Amino acid sequence: MSAALQAVRLAKSFGGLRAASDVSFEVPHGSLTALIGPNGAGKTTIFNLITNFFTPDSGEVRFYGTPLAGRSSGEIAAMGLVRTFQSARIFPGMTALENVLAGAHLQVRSHAWAQMLWLPGARREEHALARKAEALLELAGLQGFRDTAATELPMGGQKLLEVIRALMARPRLVLLDEPAAGLNDTETAELAALLRAVRDSGVTVMVVEHNMSLVMGVADQVVVLDAGSVVASGTPAEIQSDKRVIEAYVGQEAA
Ligand SMILES: Nc1ncnc2c1ncn2[C@@H]1O[C@H](COP(=O)(O)OP(=O)(O)OP(=O)(O)O)[C@@H](O)[C@H]1O
Ligand SMILES: [Mg+2]
Repeated sequence: MSAALQAVRLAKSFGGLRAASDVSFEVPHGSLTALIGPNGAGKTTIFNLITNFFTPDSGEVRFYGTPLAGRSSGEIAAMGLVRTFQSARIFPGMTALENVLAGAHLQVRSHAWAQMLWLPGARREEHALARKAEALLELAGLQGFRDTAATELPMGGQKLLEVIRALMARPRLVLLDEPAAGLNDTETAELAALLRAVRDSGVTVMVVEHNMSLVMGVADQVVVLDAGSVVASGTPAEIQSDKRVIEAYVGQEAA
């Protein structure tokens, strides 16, 4: 199976507004695929349709060949398709480490009663998860914030925290909605390294991103949306010289 994700002729309207029309693309297994396009192009809508936060008017999404129609967002996450949100959703009242650990609830296999009784299996599992969370904090350059309240982290740190929390669920495919928004240059470089490491570890990544140097630096494949339709897809080099892509962005600047 070569496609982690197939979007087939997805359409969604809000009232009279066609936020997605006839959107088809594939995310190859093991790839880092970027979804780009001007503001309002429909990128977040596509993530919402993939994860069934919105039901498509028509079209279909397949995750490793399995149609996702009729499944709840929670079921989809449990299948290994995990997303982040455009505005960071961290858990207040928890430290950075606790936030990352909270992402693991999908993969904890011991029964709740085993955790309550603190049986050896559950204890080993907790230790392994804590080590994994710490390793991810380090990979994101956040180890210094381990025990800091998550709300005290700089905005960029909160975004990175949300990304590594998603990774704790051991997804097969992770959808990241503008993870670099609000990141400074150092944090953006850390994010780029993190995204490559995630892809190289075998997790397929799809990322919505406005930062073009980040996209061109990390993506294997780019899908370009404009006004709810796919206008181009290809390698970063192919996309950069595509006339329709340039027009979509120049059109936005003119507006
Ligand atoms: N729940 C909703 N109800 C009504 N309209 C919506 C809804 N969600 C999105 N839209 C509209 O659909 C269009 C696409 O929005 P979307 O958020 O998907 O764009 P985007 O590409 O993610 O933009 P940005 O880069 O600004 O995040 C916009 O015109 C938006 O106003
Ligand atoms: Mg968006």
